Amino acid sequence: MSETDPAAPYTLAVYNHKGGVGKTTASLNLAVCLAAAGFRCLLVDLDPQQSSTTILARSGTSPNLVDVMRRTAVIDDAAHQTPVENLWIIPATRSLTLLESGLDERIRPNQGLRTILSFSQRRFDFIVIDCPPAMGLLSINALVAADSVVIPTTSGAFSLQGVHRTNETVTALRGGIAPWLGVLGIVITLFEGSQRDRQVVGELTSGFPGQVFRNRIRFDPEVQKAEVKRQPVGVFNPMAPATRDYAQLTAEIVGRLHRLRKLGDGEFSFEEVAARIEANLVRPDFARLDDAGPPVESPAPEAAEPERKRDGASAAKARAGIGGIAAGFLAGFLCGGAVGLLVGPRALAVLTAALG
Ligand SMILES: Nc1ncnc2c1ncn2[C@@H]1O[C@H](COP(=O)(O)OP(=O)(O)O)[C@@H](O)[C@H]1O
Ligand SMILES: [Mg+2]
Repeated sequence: MSETDPAAPYTLAVYNHKGGVGKTTASLNLAVCLAAAGFRCLLVDLDPQQSSTTILARSGTSPNLVDVMRRTAVIDDAAHQTPVENLWIIPATRSLTLLESGLDERIRPNQGLRTILSFSQRRFDFIVIDCPPAMGLLSINALVAADSVVIPTTSGAFSLQGVHRTNETVTALRGGIAPWLGVLGIVITLFEGSQRDRQVVGELTSGFPGQVFRNRIRFDPEVQKAEVKRQPVGVFNPMAPATRDYAQLTAEIVGRLHRLRKLGDGEFSFEEVAARIEANLVRPDFARLDDAGPPVESPAPEAAEPERKRDGASAAKARAGIGGIAAGFLAGFLCGGAVGLLVGPRALAVLTAALG
């Protein structure tokens, strides 16, 4: 991705070493809420378990992410329009596990996710990557492709450990092949408000000053009902507590990006963004996930005019620090097999230490 293109999308990887902390739920609902805020959003499902894909696309939708990585398809064809307004998805398949293990010889070395996503420049405002748990080639690809990382965590036992390890991985990559990478914030999920929950939130807040998002996601049975119906909770029940939490978290994220000057210089009002999201989520034509047919498939949107603005939240991104070095570093990255060669000895040492 080129930092010189002010209309390039902002890419968020939703990642934690731990499974079951709400990564997929957060990816889906952040993507839906960003779309409801008026941003053109691409969700990349990088998890071989395909949870996001089963919710937003029909099984077997092709071409998919693996096709693009194998260069048998181009990204414009693999970004499928979902039944949610402003939202596209690159679906996962189980064969992502072959990429994870480095066993797929058809993947050429320069097929890193970052390189692939760069071909979608200017078509989207945001790219959200739903990462698999654990640190492997797929997660490294996601982190290197990202501008910053959102770390979801529960307030349960071992959550501090998971956040620490994830943070250390980001630091290691920033010291090596992804110098632009940072943690945008930590989001507490499945929050029940118990004394233990509050204690862990306190520890996270003091351990990671300024990083924990003010808006937490409450434990909400509607999320699980939505999952059974194969819908993001924001679509399944726009009035659910978790939907409200995700709308507010999204507004907080947009505000944080405004403050970091990653979004255009338009006016930002937390209340306005949250209200716009909530108003769009209740619009009957915002999402048509009840429809029996397959999601409408269409090519990714046309490249935006550089001067195009949306709703006061300009798509123009003034991003700094992303060097053209990424492509060079990524040569041989995906399937070279030897992570040491990929990340360089110094970063590898830090990474190995981080992975403990
Ligand atoms: N806010 C919430 N309230 C209740 N259940 C939730 C909430 N967020 C996630 N879940 C449930 O927790 C489980 C794990 O969430 P998921 O997003 O799949 O985590 P991950 O992707 O990190 O493995 C899922 O069954 C999901 O429905
Ligand atoms: Mg998941």
